[in-house]
Amino acid sequence: MILLGVNIDHCATLRQARYRQAPATAGGAIEPDPVTLAVLCEQAGADGITVHLREDRRHIQDRDVWRLRETIATRLNLEMACTPAMTELALKLKPDSVCLVPESREEITTEGGLDVVANRDRVRAVVDAMNAAGIKTSLFIDPEEAQIDLAKKISAPWVELHTGAYANAPLGAARAKEFQRLRLGCVRAHELGLTVNAGHGINYVNIAEVRTLPHLHELNIGHSIMSRALFTGITEAVRELKARMNP
Ligand code: PXP
Repeated sequence: MILLGVNIDHCATLRQARYRQAPATAGGAIEPDPVTLAVLCEQAGADGITVHLREDRRHIQDRDVWRLRETIATRLNLEMACTPAMTELALKLKPDSVCLVPESREEITTEGGLDVVANRDRVRAVVDAMNAAGIKTSLFIDPEEAQIDLAKKISAPWVELHTGAYANAPLGAARAKEFQRLRLGCVRAHELGLTVNAGHGINYVNIAEVRTLPHLHELNIGHSIMSRALFTGITEAVRELKARMNP
């Protein structure tokens, strides 16, 4: 069974669109609350909750991650940049896992994953710190052999293969080529003993193909679920995607 990590960042995006300047609670009037949403996602079948605490705090706030840590019953996956400040925060917060993602242009590969090859020492420092603290690290990388091999070399236990180039490719030869890259990436990572996750741009349609990738452990999905939830409610949105992942 493929596990589902629900990325709830866009719930916070919606809240911040109106309440960026408001005090933390504003008399209890602030909606939508990402922590309440996370609990509903779990009740609907999510296997974990993912949030990206960005350096610019554009959606998820520090208070959210601490409330999530105290509240959710599944696993908390913290997406973060490879910086000393975020490392310090993660070591205090103790999420179940961290996923290292690029935030500045220099850290990004051609397709948009974290360029582990170009940032080897910085990434390694975070992986070492997390391994020592018993927190699993996942590297959000393109399905490229050099990135995958280096993830293994620097002792990251997990990778999350970036599915964005696949999801954005026009249907036909271009999409098939990206799917093949992902397939080979999954095989390579699995051969090396890495746990294989994937994410970005996965939706209710392309899941039919994405779910056939070999060795998938977990998919991290955000935008499509939040968008569907506007029409069906979050419970149905999570249930339906989970059913499509594991028909
Ligand atoms: N995985 C990672 C590492 C991400 O940063 C994101 C959010 O961009 C996702 C998965 C989820 O992507 P989406 O919102 O397109 O489903």
